[in-house]
Amino acid sequence: METEKKLRKQVEHYVEEIVNKSLEIVMNATYGNRQLNRNTVSKVHKKVNDVNLSNGDTNVKQFAECLVDESFKEGLEEVDKLSKIKPILCVGIVTLDFVTISEEYPAEDSKTIAVGNYWSRGGNAANTATVLAHLGARVEYFGTIVNNRWMSLLQDDFKNNGVSTEHCIYLDHEKHKAPVATLITSQKTGTRTVIADFKGITGVTYEQFSSLNIGKYGLIHLESRSFEGRAGDIADIIALIVKHNETNVESEKIVISVEIEQSNITNPEFRSLFAQGDIVLIGKDYAIDDGYTSKEEAVRGLYKYCKPDAILVCAWGDDGAAAMFDEQLVCSPAITPEKLVDTLGEGDTFNAGFIYAFSRGKSVAKAVKFGCMVAGHKCGCNGFSCVKGMQRNMYQI
Ligand code: FRU
Repeated sequence: METEKKLRKQVEHYVEEIVNKSLEIVMNATYGNRQLNRNTVSKVHKKVNDVNLSNGDTNVKQFAECLVDESFKEGLEEVDKLSKIKPILCVGIVTLDFVTISEEYPAEDSKTIAVGNYWSRGGNAANTATVLAHLGARVEYFGTIVNNRWMSLLQDDFKNNGVSTEHCIYLDHEKHKAPVATLITSQKTGTRTVIADFKGITGVTYEQFSSLNIGKYGLIHLESRSFEGRAGDIADIIALIVKHNETNVESEKIVISVEIEQSNITNPEFRSLFAQGDIVLIGKDYAIDDGYTSKEEAVRGLYKYCKPDAILVCAWGDDGAAAMFDEQLVCSPAITPEKLVDTLGEGDTFNAGFIYAFSRGKSVAKAVKFGCMVAGHKCGCNGFSCVKGMQRNMYQI
């Protein structure tokens, strides 16, 4: 009994110390407020009281850190609610990815033994939504899902990762093809090679999009790939959001984020997308196909296609990321993990980090840096779950 009392005291003391540190960060954060901080403290104390310490758990420090991590995350989610940060909508495609992990990228027409394999839910916007949810944002994915034998796997995976799919459009598998990708990741170089079977897939249409109540979202992120071959729909969708913005007060305006990853350079309609986003996120592959050899060159060269107040961002894998806005260039180096484990979805993770920080009032430079931090951390582990809790780091940039 005595030991339990002593332990409880130790835990409380330790928790208080870390809570105070965490609160300092929240207080300094753009949206921190005193009421929230008081809520966080009382929640932590309640948790300490609920703990059964009689089982001899003497790892007080680790235990206390867990508690604080949890309550800090809760705290930040509450910050979103209190500061009325609206949910983010990610529009795009969801794929079924078959991933083979190989020691190194195989030679053509060779036979090698794989290190392992797994399937996962993929697709740029779907991945970005997952990371945003892990960072504690309220997020919804909107796109088509083919009603085939894999459907519930995809749905469950969205749900288990905290991404809402409440407005998705379900398509008959006899009439529609589902996007599938085969991927090889190389342990030696950290590359991910994608063979995407996306030809003829059906993305969302303008009609389907226009049935959403868009006023409830603060930012809409559109993956241009899902509109391939039908550029008109994405232009019409953006026009609908622009109209909403023109007829609403500042606080109700929706930030339009457009992701252009694939090289559709030959399609002038896709080039015109640059002029439509408040945020335009381009991938390294796109920039290279367009003849650019660095992130700086790419944003400098392509900025002329953007509207005057837009932010153009380009993530360049192990060379970090750059952004142009207001004629200014900002860059961040990559923040590489100790050991490169999995780069699949690195760009999607960067985009989520950037969007998360930017929509919480961070400057473009800080948002670029946070994007690099989250993407770098992700590359040190398989999948996306390891980015959970990284929003704490945003307040320290
Ligand atoms: C990763 C990814 C995969 C998907 C492919 C689509 O960025 O979204 O999940 O198979 O790219 O281009």
